[in-house]
Amino acid sequence: MTTLNPTVTSTLDPFGGTRNAHLEDSMIADSVALNIQSAYKMFGGASGFSLAPRSASRAQTIAVNHVSFQVKRGEIFGVLGPNGSGKSTLIRLIATLLVPDGGTISVFGHDVAKEPMAVQRLINRVSVEASFFKKLSPMENLMYGARLYGVGADEARRQVVAILTRLGLQEKAIYRPMEEMSRGMQQKVAIARALLSRPIVLLLDEPTTGLDPRSKREVQAFVRELRDTHDTTIVLTTHDMLEADQLCDRIAIIDGGNIVALDTPENLKRLISNNGHAPTLEEVFLTLTGKKLVTEDQAE
Ligand SMILES: Nc1ncnc2c1ncn2[C@@H]1O[C@H](COP(=O)(O)OP(=O)(O)OP(=O)(O)O)[C@@H](O)[C@H]1O
Ligand SMILES: [Mg+2]
Repeated sequence: MTTLNPTVTSTLDPFGGTRNAHLEDSMIADSVALNIQSAYKMFGGASGFSLAPRSASRAQTIAVNHVSFQVKRGEIFGVLGPNGSGKSTLIRLIATLLVPDGGTISVFGHDVAKEPMAVQRLINRVSVEASFFKKLSPMENLMYGARLYGVGADEARRQVVAILTRLGLQEKAIYRPMEEMSRGMQQKVAIARALLSRPIVLLLDEPTTGLDPRSKREVQAFVRELRDTHDTTIVLTTHDMLEADQLCDRIAIIDGGNIVALDTPENLKRLISNNGHAPTLEEVFLTLTGKKLVTEDQAE
């Protein structure tokens, strides 16, 4: 059954895959990876420090409006919504980069506001605008990242080569400057960097936006593999309906900071009559919000 403003269960086996060293035994029993209850985030307005004159007070934007859902351990959970719907803000709240103005968010029982360090040990995030030292190679950038995460040099070097070649990068590209790489290749390096910290929960903010179809498929296959073999829980944002449909176990459709529906792709599509053809998530979104998910000028 489709849930509106939901706390939904999943039929997935949350105990599959390889155990991760960061998780203590007491946490293993807890199959809820992420618990978000009435999370609220507002930007602008009177609150906060500002150098602007009082008369120029900024308009308020409610970016995340009392959003609630749970993500089970081992799920690939998608947040699907148009530009400005609050996807990145939600990811940044989970990643402890922003503090919620209301509600609670916990990662394996650790509250993001009260125990940010504990949360940071369990998660990693790949943002759309991942930054690198452009003159340095992927290997040099990732070795730098590995030092920050406390991963030993030999182990890191082995992992970098293994992850990047698995992601379809040619070995010689690993040693060439980042600035010579396509956006797709750079995105793969960004994902590889996040994996060096062996996150229990991987937050991927638009992991395949701007990638060519082949790179998209490679990244998507790798996300699936991560979940299946490394016991990683994955939350990803996207405006690509096909990606959400093919990759995600469940999808929250978000619009204007509100979750308008949350369910499996199949159940979401059952929400609307098919008029003789298989419904798409785009049609579901249009039915629920009266808007198109991606306008023509946003389409790649
Ligand atoms: N740091 C900020 N200061 C002020 N407003 C912000 C800030 N970050 C986000 N917003 C606003 O909050 C709303 C949600 O933005 P957010 O970046 O979360 O959307 P999004 O769904 O990730 O969009 P996109 O698909 O374009 O990445 C937007 O109206 C945006 O302008
Ligand atoms: Mg965003």
